[in-house]
Amino acid sequence: MPDVDLLLHSATQLCVAPPDHGGPQRGEALGDLGLIEDGALALKDGRVLAAGTTADLRARFSAARELDCAGKVLCPGFVDPHTHLIWMGDRAVEFERRIAGATYMEIMAAGGGIMSTVRATRGASVEALVAEARPRLDRMLAHGATTVEVKTGYGLETRAELQQLEAIVALDRSHPVTLVPTFLGAHAIPAEYQGRADAYVDLVVQEMLPAVAEKARELHLPTLPFCDVFCEEGAFDLAQSRRILEAARALGFPLKIHVDEFKSLGGTSLAVELGALSADHLVTTPPEELALLGKAQTVAVALPCTPFGLGHHEYTPARALLAEGAALALASDCNPGTAWNESMPFVMALACRTLRLTPGQVLVAATLNAAFALGMGDRVGSLAPGYAADVLVLDVPDYRHLGYRFGANPVATVLKAGRIVVDAGGVYGAA
Ligand code: NIG
Ligand code: FE
Repeated sequence: MPDVDLLLHSATQLCVAPPDHGGPQRGEALGDLGLIEDGALALKDGRVLAAGTTADLRARFSAARELDCAGKVLCPGFVDPHTHLIWMGDRAVEFERRIAGATYMEIMAAGGGIMSTVRATRGASVEALVAEARPRLDRMLAHGATTVEVKTGYGLETRAELQQLEAIVALDRSHPVTLVPTFLGAHAIPAEYQGRADAYVDLVVQEMLPAVAEKARELHLPTLPFCDVFCEEGAFDLAQSRRILEAARALGFPLKIHVDEFKSLGGTSLAVELGALSADHLVTTPPEELALLGKAQTVAVALPCTPFGLGHHEYTPARALLAEGAALALASDCNPGTAWNESMPFVMALACRTLRLTPGQVLVAATLNAAFALGMGDRVGSLAPGYAADVLVLDVPDYRHLGYRFGANPVATVLKAGRIVVDAGGVYGAA
């Protein structure tokens, strides 16, 4: 009988979240959990060797170690494909002003918003950036996130943007969570370029992108980071977004784009045209552009914590996206301005109510489909054989408690690449 490193067994339910013909679960097909009752997982060398019933796997494998999951649910580790995890300070005062009636874009136009976090973040050392972000990442992990995308974008000058990239890489290399870096030099027009947005775009295209590519080589990253742009009135218009993304693509950067968060500028069409891996936010996207996502490889990433965090009532039209056949994913958008949320279970609970998705749909959108938004859907986000053994043991009797319940953490145990990194809420050592 073949030996395995670890056998997880006797789970009330095992949610495999299988890929659909090697791809994300698109459209109305979203929500196939590949559910196995009395489920078990055989793990070897950091990967899933087999998923099945307890009886089936016990008959097939002998295990060096076992973990009894009776009364619990097993599912893939959550993948959070859109965060701004690296920042200093906070914006609690702005939050209070927004609650009193000021809008997010008004505060930004007056020099606050993203720029106020840039002022707090620019001067920080790589060590300080890592030290500030690490406890947030610990809490994300404790809430089940095992792969997290992280953007730069609070530097907005070459040196500070590079430092933020270095901080993301340093954190990735010293923490169990896999971090996926994104360069977001086009997050806002910095104060010193007010009224000269095109000159800032020149800087991004001519200086920052080549410098980021060089830094990625220096840091021995296996691929270039993503390049992202905040395409929005008051940030980067469609022509500026196109210039940056086309220049990035020419250098080999894979693309992402913030679109239609407040006002639709045509960014979704641009994302599809340029073959971006994801288009994110999609709150005000017109129907004809939602339809484009139905036919594209570009994953639609909904961020329900953002309207919620802003106290808005308009959310991504997720059901319309599914009706069009789009691949829908969920992310936290964790950032100090619109959505300081570190919990994917909260994202999922919010998505059930505001996006009208079922618990099965939000679970796949926060695992398999989120991995596809990062170009990693062939190796993380599912518990099918061959996938990374990033596994959650949920202290709930049925997967539907994800979504149904909110405000407490359902995650009992987290395994990363087959190793227990969180047990009963306590975070164990580094990777
Ligand atoms: O995704 N929209 C741009 N970026 C963030 C907000 C960042 C901030 O306010 O600091 C977002 O909502
Ligand atoms: Fe964002």
